[in-house]
Amino acid sequence: MAFQHRFIVSIGLVLCVAAAAAAQPPSDSDKVEMQKKLEYSRQILDGLVTEDFDKILRGARALNEFGKRKWIENESAEYRMQNQVFWFTTGTLVMAAEKESIDGATLSYTQMTHSCVNCHKLLRRQ
Ligand code: HEC
Repeated sequence: MAFQHRFIVSIGLVLCVAAAAAAQPPSDSDKVEMQKKLEYSRQILDGLVTEDFDKILRGARALNEFGKRKWIENESAEYRMQNQVFWFTTGTLVMAAEKESIDGATLSYTQMTHSCVNCHKLLRRQ
């Protein structure tokens, strides 16, 4: 009986620690990483207005790599969807820049920007 009780208490503790870890705010280094998204998207806009496809490609590839990560523990369907949209649109941006299609790249950039705003909007509301 005592053993069972101790067992249940330790399971409870493990769950609490796990929950605390999941709810942790992003660390400073994560925030620095996140700030880079803004830098890369500025670099892409710069590339778009000057038709510098190398610049667009560098920013788009970097953001596409970002899109492969989850960033935070958030299992909601809405968050996962925004992450997918971000990853997908940075991918179409890379493809458009490779084809040197300025209109295609501009369209993908706009679609990507929607996912930036929507994901942040979602996080504030959750
Ligand atoms: C799938 C969700 C998602 C998408 C898409 C997304 N972000 Fe974020 N962003 C986050 C999360 C999560 C954080 C960290 C939350 C926090 O700092 O509280 C963050 C943080 C940031 C920060 C740092 C804010 C701060 O408080 O320091 C910036 C800047 C940023 N994002 C810019 C962008 C830009 C630009 C894009 C699009 C190119 C983008 N984000 C797309 C989820 C997203």
